[in-house]
Amino acid sequence: MMGALEGRVAIITGAGRGLGREHALLFAREGARVIVNDLDVTMDGGATNSSGDDRGAAQQVVDEIVATGGQAVANTDDIADWEGGRRLLNTALDAFGELHVLVNNAGILRDRMLVNMTEDEWDSVIRAHLKGHLVPIRWAADHWRQRSKAGHQVQAAVVNSSSTSGLLGNAGQANYGAAKAGIAALTIIAAQELEHYGVRVNAVVPAARTRMTEATPGLSEMVQPPQEPDVFDQWDPANTSPVVAYLSGTSCRTTGKVFFVQGGRIQVFRPWALVEADDKLDNNHRWTVAELEAEMARLGA
Ligand SMILES: NC(=O)c1ccc[n+]([C@@H]2O[C@H](COP(=O)([O-])OP(=O)(O)OC[C@H]3O[C@@H](n4cnc5c(N)ncnc54)[C@H](O)[C@@H]3O)[C@@H](O)[C@H]2O)c1
Repeated sequence: MMGALEGRVAIITGAGRGLGREHALLFAREGARVIVNDLDVTMDGGATNSSGDDRGAAQQVVDEIVATGGQAVANTDDIADWEGGRRLLNTALDAFGELHVLVNNAGILRDRMLVNMTEDEWDSVIRAHLKGHLVPIRWAADHWRQRSKAGHQVQAAVVNSSSTSGLLGNAGQANYGAAKAGIAALTIIAAQELEHYGVRVNAVVPAARTRMTEATPGLSEMVQPPQEPDVFDQWDPANTSPVVAYLSGTSCRTTGKVFFVQGGRIQVFRPWALVEADDKLDNNHRWTVAELEAEMARLGA
């Protein structure tokens, strides 16, 4: 049987473990040729090989894919490094001659209440996620624009990774949440800019068992697999991958959307929107503060 992603070449960032690894394994099973990117860092971004295997996390996943007859190559660039992003694109082009899909998934956590946050905790998390999404999109988009201008019919897809920590808010994650809300905005803007070149851009908001959630107080017990063998494992990270694969396929038309995915539950996020008031405050008037104290209640704010 033909896989859903037969013929597609896909870069998946942070695919050495966790959600990204599941995406890579499913993509390969569905017939995609996969570039497995991973810098192999600790959860807080510490620059050490944390997998305890000389091959590194990305190569281990590549070996797993190749052992089952799939096609994959490893890339160990830092996705937030400008030149690293260019090398990541070139890894795909050198290995397979083309690129159709970019799944931005890599990221780190350095949780702290903002009152105690250090400059480095802020900068490193914003860099890994927000810049780490922009840089691979930047290089892939440049490639797709060139293809499109040369007259090729581009049918490309980007799938980003956002989080409820940003879209709904979560105390203790100002750095991570701000980056993840920024990624939702980047998704909408990239969808607007790249539609013209045949590129769709969406995001998923996963909720799954990985080292990230296993390390989160209050979540670590909740995400454990069920004891009973016939109970569905809602927190299995592999539950998210079919949604990512669907959004990456040529039959999908969706763009600019953000999807919450946990187990079999899939919901679309409504983006920021202006609340329609029956009685909007008059545009042709500068309010005094005193007037606003009386009038603002009408907006339901
Ligand atoms: N697990 C969840 O429930 C959940 C919820 C919401 C969002 N997310 C998001 O899903 C994505 C995957 O998270 P996960 O839970 O699988 O985490 P994880 O820590 O298991 O995997 C992240 C991977 O990214 C890699 N990485 C980190 N920085 C990198 C960089 N600069 N360049 C290249 N690789 C880098 C790490 O080495 C690691 O292998 C993240 O963006 C995360 O924020 C996860």
